[in-house]
Amino acid sequence: MTAAPPTLPAEWYFGTGRYARERLSLFANEWLWFASEAEVAAPCTYVAQLYAGWPLMVVRGDDGVLRGFHNVCRHRAGPLVDDGSGRCANLVCQYHGWAYSFDGRLRSARDFGETLDPDKFALHPIQVCAWRGQVFVNLNAGAAPLQEDLGDFFAETERFPLEDMTLVRSFRHNLACNWKTYADNYLEGYHIPLLHPELNRQFDAKRYRVELGDRYCRHSAPPRDNAPADGRWLFRWPNLAMNIYGDSMNVEVIVPTGPESCTVSYRHSFVDPNAAHVPDVIALADTVMEQDRRMVESVQRNLAAGTYHEGLLSPRHESGLVQFHHLVRTADAKLRTSATAVAGRGYQPQVQGW
Ligand code: FES
Ligand SMILES: [Fe+2]
Repeated sequence: MTAAPPTLPAEWYFGTGRYARERLSLFANEWLWFASEAEVAAPCTYVAQLYAGWPLMVVRGDDGVLRGFHNVCRHRAGPLVDDGSGRCANLVCQYHGWAYSFDGRLRSARDFGETLDPDKFALHPIQVCAWRGQVFVNLNAGAAPLQEDLGDFFAETERFPLEDMTLVRSFRHNLACNWKTYADNYLEGYHIPLLHPELNRQFDAKRYRVELGDRYCRHSAPPRDNAPADGRWLFRWPNLAMNIYGDSMNVEVIVPTGPESCTVSYRHSFVDPNAAHVPDVIALADTVMEQDRRMVESVQRNLAAGTYHEGLLSPRHESGLVQFHHLVRTADAKLRTSATAVAGRGYQPQVQGW
């Protein structure tokens, strides 16, 4: 019998020090799901959000090119655009009006009295890549291209018509738990019979399977009679879940907003947005989220209470967590080898790798 591996230590789930490390070890270094390509389809449109404390924006220029930047002006750190999505005829800082071209170069420094080097004061760029209607970003200029990094994950979605789906509903859930507490919960079906009676009626949780790939895992369970068509639930390191069915998909993105808080975006898309089952699919997802929320917020409270230090993972049910915890530890170990990054202020957008 396989020995049950340990969980991450409880103290990895709270505290500003751990959060600061993960901002650097993970969120400044991995490809992150950022937006639907439809949101930035037209020239002069953008999406901006605070992502694990990094103010980021993706913008399609008037030249039609999609680019990504830190939403931080080079004068005194003002924002260029508000968080959210919309149109921007040009990139002008909201604080004192420095203007940038869509390629990030400084176009004018209002009333500055001297000509500044447009490249030296350009916006800090981030990598951006669109794939099958999904836009990803990477803060590390030296990271491998998305296609290479996602590897076999691409094949997992091949037979589903992602491009033919229309976003029907986007909702951001705010949770009072560390982002990993929610990810852990997503990564196993062990809790389904206890927490999710409605879901348990649709899928045979006893035959719930988790299969591991390279930095992703695939969950599946046979549907019971009259349940919606089978599908797959994919989790891609570090924070993306794509729940794909025959004609619909829910993209879940887990974004830390602090040491013990995160948001989980739910984005439901359907091939036929007017299909009769659309409201039921969304309502079930919301019910499941509220059941999970109650549990993960209690777990977070208990992890931080001081009585629990480390637990065990079920080899049968929790292999997704074994993989996830291994990747969290690996990222942290890389950070330990980087003296610059450990100093805490070492993030350099132009520095390649570690
Ligand atoms: S901070 Fe942007 S123009 Fe001053
Ligand atoms: Fe759940």
